[in-house]
Amino acid sequence: MRFIYYGHACFALEIGGKHLLFDPFISPNELAKAIDPQTVPADFILISHAHFDHLADAEAIAKRTDATIITNWEIYEYFKKKGFEKIFPMNVGGKADFDFGTLKCVIAQHSSSFPDGSYGGTAMGFVIKSQEGNLYYSGDTGLSLDMQLIPSFAVLNYAVMPIGDVITMGIEDAVRAAHMLSCHKVIGVHYNTWGTIELDKDKAFELFNRNGLELILPEIGSGMDL
Ligand code: NI
Ligand code: MN
Repeated sequence: MRFIYYGHACFALEIGGKHLLFDPFISPNELAKAIDPQTVPADFILISHAHFDHLADAEAIAKRTDATIITNWEIYEYFKKKGFEKIFPMNVGGKADFDFGTLKCVIAQHSSSFPDGSYGGTAMGFVIKSQEGNLYYSGDTGLSLDMQLIPSFAVLNYAVMPIGDVITMGIEDAVRAAHMLSCHKVIGVHYNTWGTIELDKDKAFELFNRNGLELILPEIGSGMDL
């Protein structure tokens, strides 16, 4: 499994030659200026919730790549009305098999509305179980006891979680989440995009190390094998 970071909470997983693009938000992100969203590959686009910092580039990338959008029912309706046909609606608790593996949708403790204020369904996280490893992307969320249920579905190799605080978990709660998930490798996202979610990286690494956990903060635009 290959991980590519596009900044904020946008990343891709390459599994079995397929590109899974999560929460596309590239063109409005000052920190991701070096990335041209029109060159980002996608076979599937997974959208965790309707906030603009998770779907700003979804429409353009889906149009160009003909990728299948996987998201909750309300966001599915939104894209259907725009004329998209390749959309796979899911919802919290549901799982489905794809050619990259099994995908399960889990609850995220967060809100979800479109920029115009209309209802965006329930915010979700995703668990991917594949031949190349298992990964949990929490989406935007606060710490939740429900996270304890995830290891009974998949023994995780990696957890991708927000650590910027203020509007999601911060580093202290991400450490607690990692323990609940029985997952020692955390890829931190959703930080530094704006001044309010600035991260003290030294403090973050120190806290994770002290708790026997590995924090991974990939450079925007970089890829790594998981
Ligand atoms: Ni959000
Ligand atoms: Mn967000």
